[in-house]
Amino acid sequence: MSESKNFHRSDDPAHGLREGGPGAVGPAGAPGHDRDSEPDSGRGSGQDAGRASRPMARMFPPGAGPSPDPAGSHHERRIRSFQPRRSRVTKGQRAALERLWPRWGFDVDGLRKLDLGELFGDPDLPVVLEIGFGMGEATARMAAADPDTGILAVDVHTPGQGNLLRLADEKGLDNVRVGNGDAIILLREMLVPDSLSGLRIYFPDPWPKARHHKRRLIQPEFLDLAAGPLRSGALVHCATDWEDYAEQMLEVFTAHPEYENTQPDGGFAPRPANRPLTRFEGQGLDKGHAVRDLLFRRR
Ligand SMILES: C[S@@+](CC[C@H](N)C(=O)[O-])C[C@H]1O[C@@H](n2cnc3c(N)ncnc32)[C@H](O)[C@@H]1O
Repeated sequence: MSESKNFHRSDDPAHGLREGGPGAVGPAGAPGHDRDSEPDSGRGSGQDAGRASRPMARMFPPGAGPSPDPAGSHHERRIRSFQPRRSRVTKGQRAALERLWPRWGFDVDGLRKLDLGELFGDPDLPVVLEIGFGMGEATARMAAADPDTGILAVDVHTPGQGNLLRLADEKGLDNVRVGNGDAIILLREMLVPDSLSGLRIYFPDPWPKARHHKRRLIQPEFLDLAAGPLRSGALVHCATDWEDYAEQMLEVFTAHPEYENTQPDGGFAPRPANRPLTRFEGQGLDKGHAVRDLLFRRR
């Protein structure tokens, strides 16, 4: 594995962007989580990528809800692949967070290893990590369609966390757990080797401006990190509607020795039937974007 430059540990200030101190990652995101304004990340809400966000007030007592900055103070200096955003948490989302967080939610604080068997109440359940579930509609549908797989869903977006918990409750799902925080910290500090049966990343922030490409999630250092927790044979499924990001993904996955393309021609995959339309995909399709799926396997 090569040394991670972008997703390095926090103790080397020479690397990475600093985007605000404790509180930079907080309850975030436009309520509809749309990409209709001129976005740095390519998905709306338009705060400057380099500008520090203000510390967020704590919305819940410790342990009773997602923390505004679960790993900020001790993993502060790193490039972040998400846009710090603020938004209103609706009454329904707040109620779901209050009621269900203690049961199904956890902070990505980087301070402990996760025992996934314990987290899901079943040591034999295969667990798939989904990074960046947004409002969680597609996540809930996939979880409902496959109750024998645990979905470890992580995002920094508080309204989305509340929405996914609400959906899981409504649909009677017990196979979804919701992580609050940066997936980089989760992969690097909290997941043990060979613990994941799959990885899903649907429509990651495209960061369209060239100067922000370093903030794109899918790059060699990220694949290094993910290779640790992923079991041999685990399926990695990504999708994007940004042409040049799709090409970049295909290139970095293909070049990485720990992953192999499931497609005999070495190209993009046909859209798998189990992936529902996501919110961002719908917005991209409305704009005439072409959607690309990638299906790789951990060697
Ligand atoms: C463009 S949205 C796509 C949401 C959803 N998958 C969809 O297709 O509608 C990307 C999401 O990834 C989340 N995200 C980006 N980088 C992340 C990271 N490092 N850790 C956790 N979530 C991240 C963002 O907060 C955002 O909710």
